[in-house]
Amino acid sequence: MKTNVRHEQLRVRSEGNLKGTIRVPGDKSISHRSVMLGAIANGVSQIRGWLAAGDTEATLSTIQALGIQVDRHDANTLTIHGGALQEADQPLNLVNAGTGIRLIAGIMVGQPFPSVLDGSEQLRRRPMKRITAPLEMMGAKIQATDGRAPLSIQPSSLKGITYDMPVASGQVKSAVLLAGLFADSPTTVIEPGPSRDHTEVMLSACDVKVTKVDNAITVEPTSELKPLDLTVPGDFSSAAFLMTAGLIVPDSDLIITGVNLNQTRTGLLDMLVEMGGDITVTETGLEGGEPVGDIHVKTSDLHGIEIGGDVVVRMIDEFPVLMVAALCATGETIVRDAKELRVKETDRIAVMATELRKLGADIEEREDGFKIIGQQTLNGAIVDGHDDHRIAMSMTVAGLTADGETLVMDAACAGDSFPGFAELLMECGANLVTD
Ligand code: S3P
Repeated sequence: MKTNVRHEQLRVRSEGNLKGTIRVPGDKSISHRSVMLGAIANGVSQIRGWLAAGDTEATLSTIQALGIQVDRHDANTLTIHGGALQEADQPLNLVNAGTGIRLIAGIMVGQPFPSVLDGSEQLRRRPMKRITAPLEMMGAKIQATDGRAPLSIQPSSLKGITYDMPVASGQVKSAVLLAGLFADSPTTVIEPGPSRDHTEVMLSACDVKVTKVDNAITVEPTSELKPLDLTVPGDFSSAAFLMTAGLIVPDSDLIITGVNLNQTRTGLLDMLVEMGGDITVTETGLEGGEPVGDIHVKTSDLHGIEIGGDVVVRMIDEFPVLMVAALCATGETIVRDAKELRVKETDRIAVMATELRKLGADIEEREDGFKIIGQQTLNGAIVDGHDDHRIAMSMTVAGLTADGETLVMDAACAGDSFPGFAELLMECGANLVTD
């Protein structure tokens, strides 16, 4: 099924403005989790609004390789026949999906058969010790390759632990909580800051007992997961590119409807408002326990701010596009406590600095963030997406404010999380040509 048109190159010009009422595709984090929990639930789950993108398709193929039947009614509507997973006859290929491999590892360590988790060259470069260490504390038998994928997992019995997580991470917390389902006693994760809580929300929807006391989350082991009946809301992290573009492209007025407004995800919204962004949020209801609403943005005079502390994890995927907003703002923007950016699909501090410099930007890189003095004039140039979706899309937004033409190479990766990104920008009036 062809679900995702991928464009190798995007040619962007800064003419025009952005107007309209649009929707973004389903949330990536929730989509990954929905197929994983649907797979191990006792019965048939119905998922609507599922994100059909590179990363989530890799997770879907993985659960199918584990013997789970999935009926696909259209690209975004799935029926998952949950039950016992079966041993796959090949390594499971999570391609570029960091969330996919780290979360499924939490499930695979609880299975009575061995498995091998692997992915692309890019995924093989990403650190896995952050999940293998706590999973091994639970009794899991995992052989990593120099702390990285491929991960070879042998069956073992798991015991419940209390894990004091050193870095706030939705992926690490989720891997441990998912493994906790298969343990002999409750498992608690203590998080240093409030990372995304979609796993907790969805486990509760499956009738799993999950409790939160202060910053400690405890899951009770169970094999009785109620199937899901879920509509996935729009991805805030995808909306972030349009929100930012709507604020910095002159004479723009955009409404993005049906976006997930989970507080653990909306740090960028808070920061853009603090920067002077004209943003109105209207909550419209709940979908699968997650708040959903519309975001209305209008072109604004932004000013620089300082960002650090707990908000960082609430906007961890949004720093590449925040850099573009900071370049357009008056005054300086300083980001600290964001060292995690260096271990995403790419080192997002270094790579964004490199690519933005090609447009003439002056960026001060710091070990755990950056400093940007705003109101810089950008000039169109040839830039590269580095096989990192959020870099390719952020550079496209930068191109919308640069003089002349910007050519974003290696842009197909946008489809890893945001199929139809270019088309949606064009629908709003952006001057984009796809190759
Ligand atoms: C995710 C958690 C975050 C985020 C990623 C998705 C998740 O990673 O960057 O895009 O779905 O749990 P970390 O947990 O490594 O911060």
